[in-house]
Amino acid sequence: MSSVGLHRFPQRADNELYYGADYNPEQWDREIWEEDVKLMKEAGVNVVSIGIFSWALLERSDNVWDFGWLDNVCDLMHKNGISIDMGTATASPPPWLSTAHPEILPTFKDGTISSPGSRNHYRITSPVFRKYALRLVQKLADRYGSHPGLIAWHVNNELGTPDYSDDAAAAFRIWLERKYKHIDKLNDAWGTAFWSQRYNDYNEILPPRVGNTFINPTQQLDWARYTSDSLSNYLDDETAILRKASPNIPVTTNFMLAGQTKGMDVANWKVDFVSNDHYRMPGRELDADELSFSASLTSAVAGGDPWWLMEHSTSAVNWQSVNTRKKAGQLIRDSLTHVAHGADAVCFFQWRQSRSGAEKYHSSMIPHAGPNSRLFKDVVQLGQDLKTLAEIRGSRKQLASVAIVWDWESWVASEQDGHPTTLVDYFREAREWWVALMDLGIRVDLITAQHDLSPYKLVVAPILYLVRDSVKSNIENFVKAGGHFVTTYFSGIVDENDHVRLGGYPGAFTDLLGIRIEEWAPLLPNESVELDDGSAGTIWTDDVDLTSDVHVLRKYASGELEGKAAVTLKSHGHGSAAYISTRLNVEGLKSLLPELLQNSAVESGLPKSLRSTVELAVRTDGKKEWEFWINRTGKEIDVSDAPGKLVLATGGASVGKLAARGIAVFRREVSESRK
Ligand code: GAL
Repeated sequence: MSSVGLHRFPQRADNELYYGADYNPEQWDREIWEEDVKLMKEAGVNVVSIGIFSWALLERSDNVWDFGWLDNVCDLMHKNGISIDMGTATASPPPWLSTAHPEILPTFKDGTISSPGSRNHYRITSPVFRKYALRLVQKLADRYGSHPGLIAWHVNNELGTPDYSDDAAAAFRIWLERKYKHIDKLNDAWGTAFWSQRYNDYNEILPPRVGNTFINPTQQLDWARYTSDSLSNYLDDETAILRKASPNIPVTTNFMLAGQTKGMDVANWKVDFVSNDHYRMPGRELDADELSFSASLTSAVAGGDPWWLMEHSTSAVNWQSVNTRKKAGQLIRDSLTHVAHGADAVCFFQWRQSRSGAEKYHSSMIPHAGPNSRLFKDVVQLGQDLKTLAEIRGSRKQLASVAIVWDWESWVASEQDGHPTTLVDYFREAREWWVALMDLGIRVDLITAQHDLSPYKLVVAPILYLVRDSVKSNIENFVKAGGHFVTTYFSGIVDENDHVRLGGYPGAFTDLLGIRIEEWAPLLPNESVELDDGSAGTIWTDDVDLTSDVHVLRKYASGELEGKAAVTLKSHGHGSAAYISTRLNVEGLKSLLPELLQNSAVESGLPKSLRSTVELAVRTDGKKEWEFWINRTGKEIDVSDAPGKLVLATGGASVGKLAARGIAVFRREVSESRK
């Protein structure tokens, strides 16, 4: 899983980690800019992302430009040693453009057209939008491509606006024709014999807009693939201009892994370095540990190379229904958890909290209260902590021995309509495995199913619903070579066209698992069944028949399936393949996992007493290793069993202690490392 194109990373002479924010000085008077610089220096800020939403102020009307203010900002930053990550400003077209050319506005799934007055109101397939946007990019590239302060280009912002317009329909048809060539191939792939959907010509095809009832599932799946490809193609167009003007300046675009990017296969997008935005969602189940899940996924997308945390929040996030603030210690711990998982840059949205506009209640590095605030104190402290950690810059995340397979296509395809239950939640299931393993003190990587599985002892693939033949053989070869594979309910069901693999479920894995299921038995929302270890299964059960020599690790202990196998494991030489036929949730997984871990000889790298309270992440440069011990709790923890030389302890912890919501980083030579 790697979206990195040329493996180029922004460079600064001082070799420090990057620290900064989106900086929007156009919202403020010039005197404030001077104060900004002073405070940035105090906080240790060394990079700002500028211009991201500045189109209307840069191009005042059609082809009438005003770069003076941005010149001044760039010069001011550079003069003060603050590097520039320059936005291409294409994410919010100015009112004059949408007034003159309403045909650039995107269409929602229900056919209504987005109004301007917010942002992201563009359709990337509109030739008119593309003409204006790329002209703007060219102007910026020509003007700032050799500015001495420039270290990175930042394409658009969170590319991902869905669009069901007629322009998109035309682009979808071209994409489909390239993929299927003859229309009959598409008819086969989409199963259009069903419900009289046979197409004679590509011109008859539309985006999957809102219909009377379920829209063709393969059409929806191809639409998700097309959408990802078309955004990536737009990224390529901006990138080509930037590369030509400034071949040495690396290009990125800020992703939104994982929660917001269902169906977006950004691992296949081309950027010089990966950057990600992450916002915690305090109301959501398992929110706290989702942060490290997302950070680990970002590291996977970066192929294990360092990456940038382009945005996160210092505290409250105003697009959430309740804007909870961060607790003491959390700003620093959350930031450094991303660093633990490979981030070499910690940036926030945004530098100074706005006085007006839609995000005025979103926290920032300088709050409304001003620099004389607890929040700014933390911001300054974080700057110092990042300086202390400068020695890790450029190091990679150390591989774990357990991996969770993350599959964008299975996410989209498993949650389509017309399925056995609406309660399948791909992202939650993956997160539950992540948290259960973390609770047992086990480090985990996220990988794709096409990934080389050989470095891992144990590979878990929750809800791997869509399985291509190449993925099937990848997994079979892993098990044959002695690997241990675990999968769950609703896995192995369909091929890449979302066609069911016949002969009994779980289709692709019946032989590997030595089981066969004739009919699923999903549960109603409030139903649960008991397993013989006392765990509860919800959402789903399977009536599992054993077709070969299989160990039954858990049986159902209640309900219609009482006495039948709930969890199975089939040995294959030194390897094995296990199946979990119900949703166990974190507690149930924790009860089962010790057996699976023992079977695959995986052990925790943490002392026993710390396994449920501390998260362990490791970075290495090949010679040294840095262990990050992250306190997941709000209480101080005793860590006298330290694994090397202490580099940093946050939250004012004394030696041998991990502060509440604190992080300690230990360094040692690789030769001294524990196995
Ligand atoms: C991001 C976006 C930023 C800002 C931020 C607030 O999704 O890129 O511009 O809106 O959210 O959380």
